[in-house]
Formats: sequence, C-alpha cells, structure tokens
Amino acid sequence: MKIDGTPYRSVWVDPEDGWSVRIFDQTRLPWRLEVLRLTTVDEAAHAIRSMQVRGAPLIGAVAAYGVCLALRADASTEAMERDCAMLGETRPTAINLRWAIARMLARLRDTAPADRVAAAYAEAGRIADEDAAQCEAIGRHGVELIAAKAGQGRRVNVLTHCNAGWLATVDWGTALAPIYMAHERGIDLHVWVDETRPRNQGAALTAWELRSHGVPHTVVADNAGGHLMQHGEVDLVIVGTDRVTRQGDVANKIGTYLKALAARDNDVPFWVACPSSTIDWTVADGLAEIPIEERSGAEVTDVTGRMADGTIATVRVTPSEAANPAFDVTPARLVTGLITERGCCPATTDGLLSLFPERT
Ligand code: MRU
Repeated sequence: MKIDGTPYRSVWVDPEDGWSVRIFDQTRLPWRLEVLRLTTVDEAAHAIRSMQVRGAPLIGAVAAYGVCLALRADASTEAMERDCAMLGETRPTAINLRWAIARMLARLRDTAPADRVAAAYAEAGRIADEDAAQCEAIGRHGVELIAAKAGQGRRVNVLTHCNAGWLATVDWGTALAPIYMAHERGIDLHVWVDETRPRNQGAALTAWELRSHGVPHTVVADNAGGHLMQHGEVDLVIVGTDRVTRQGDVANKIGTYLKALAARDNDVPFWVACPSSTIDWTVADGLAEIPIEERSGAEVTDVTGRMADGTIATVRVTPSEAANPAFDVTPARLVTGLITERGCCPATTDGLLSLFPERT
C-alpha cells in the first residue's frame, strides 16, 4: 500500500545491503512512522514478542525472515532447529507463526548448510509474495459482499475489530482488503473502527491506515458495537483472524466473540477474512484446542498516548491488578462465512473443504 504516494510493504529486505530486514515499528503508531532494521534472529524475535510487528500473517513473514537472519550467523542444522524453536515460542495463538517456520524448515532441512542462506531468503520472499497475493484475492472476493449492500444512495457501514489491515499482513490486509477495494471502486462506505482495548490496535493502527488512504471511518469504544447494530448502523461486520479451525471456529482479538453475538442478535452478517495460512487443519474445537495468549496486565492498567506538548506518555488508569487474555474464540455457528483467497464459504468443515479439497 502507499504512504504519501510511495508503495510499501510491512516487511521487506533492505535493498541497500540485500540482507537486513526492515519493518515499521507498530508500537510507535499512530504518532510516529519509524522504520526498524532487524539484523539478528534475536531482534526478529524481539520485534514479534514486543509487538513492533503483529497481526497473524505479518508475524509469520517476519519469523520466516528471522530464520534467514539466524542462518547468516550459523547455518548448522542444530542451530537452525534451536532458533526456529525459539521463534516459534514468541507468540502462541496466531498459527501463521508456526506455519511459516514449519514451511521454512521443510524447505531447508534437506538443503546443504552452505546453500541454506540463499534458499531461506528465497523461501521467505515467496511467503511474503504469496501473502500479499492472497490478501489481494481476499479483497476481490470480499468487495462483492460490500457491493451487495450498496446502492439506492445508501452508505454501507462496515464494523471491524482490531487491525487486520496491511500492517497486520505483508500487504493489503485481510479484513481491510475488501474495504480498500470498495473505496477504490467508488462505493460509498464508512467504517466503524473498534478502538480494541487494551492495546488499541483499532484506534492506533486501523484508523491510521484508513485515514492514510482516505477511507471514511469513525473510532468507537469497543462496547458501542451492539448499540450501533441495534439501531441499524452496521450493514456487515468484517474481522480478521489469528487461527481458524477445520470446523470454522475463529480465534481473533479479544472482544470479537461479543461482536459476533451482537451481530447474530441483530441479523447483521458477520464475516471473517482468512488466508489459508491461518487455517489450522490439525484442530477442530477452537474453544478446547486453541491456546489463548495471556498478556501483561500492564496493557490494561496503563494507557499510552500523546500529551498536549507532543510527548508520548503512559499513564496508569487503575491501581488494581488486571488480567489480560488477548484473544477469544468465536464458535463457527456465529460466523456467517469465511472470505479466503479462493472465495467465500460457510464456516464449516464442508465449506472449507469445498474450497480446499486437497485437505480432504
Ligand atoms: O495481537 P495482535 O495485534 O497480533 O492481533 C491481531 C488480530 O487479532 C487481528 O485482528 C487479526 O485479525 C489477525 S491479523 C490479520
């Protein structure tokens, strides 16, 4: 996507040196757009753990490049297995992380150590390119859902949760790809952006993306969605996901389940945009089988923002301790359907297999 007319991806290899990895530091947005240079596997792991990069597909792509950086230091099989295990532990819920590392290992195990660095960069590049292409395809399929709600001079109101835009992927985004394409097509649309406490990925990242691209949007408190739906202010919900099970259960940012409940109660379609790299075919029951990341309570008790004098500061909003489950699972029965790179399908095993018959 473009920033001030210049096309960017959210991760790329530095064209100057041809090996270091560049990312945007997402912990600084929306106040500062800073590019970081990753030169070691430890820096890549830190970027994922500290959420300088976040969003399931992007975590996977950065982990793949982290493997490249690891191999530059030591391309032995022992070191490769150790560093991949370490990268795989950085975040637990998003399946793309493990998917990307498994794909890198499958490509590299039978490659001679001397050839591994080149092979790793080539494979990481393919992972990044495929993610961008899949998100673009999700956009092409998803835009038809928005187009179907347009017409008769009516503005289409879409609600989204967290950030599933181009910052969360390599390019385009998952949930935001259909929104960008609808905007490009000239469809009159407006996006309700859940602020997404506790880390505010909606207010900080989704709103920044939409503002940068001129898409009309309004940030709302997380608790506002149900009220908006009751009053006919939401035509459809589109969210991303960190892991979808083979029966269509959806893990996504905490609070997604409550939006799905409200959507069902108000007959609002609830769509989940999901590249195939986010489908975990090894698990069925999301509630029982998907590990939910428990993050620091400080993310709940402390809020960071810009002060009147322009400085960035963190303030504590309660002296109490806080719990912080970062994701929840929306059962498949509450999901209208999945938007994948191969098209839309019901959130069921049969639905998924109709698009991915090779998984039968
Ligand atoms: O904790 P995060 O910011 O990595 O979580 C990301 C999300 O939950 C996104 O909403 C999501 O859709 C997955 S990324 C496309």
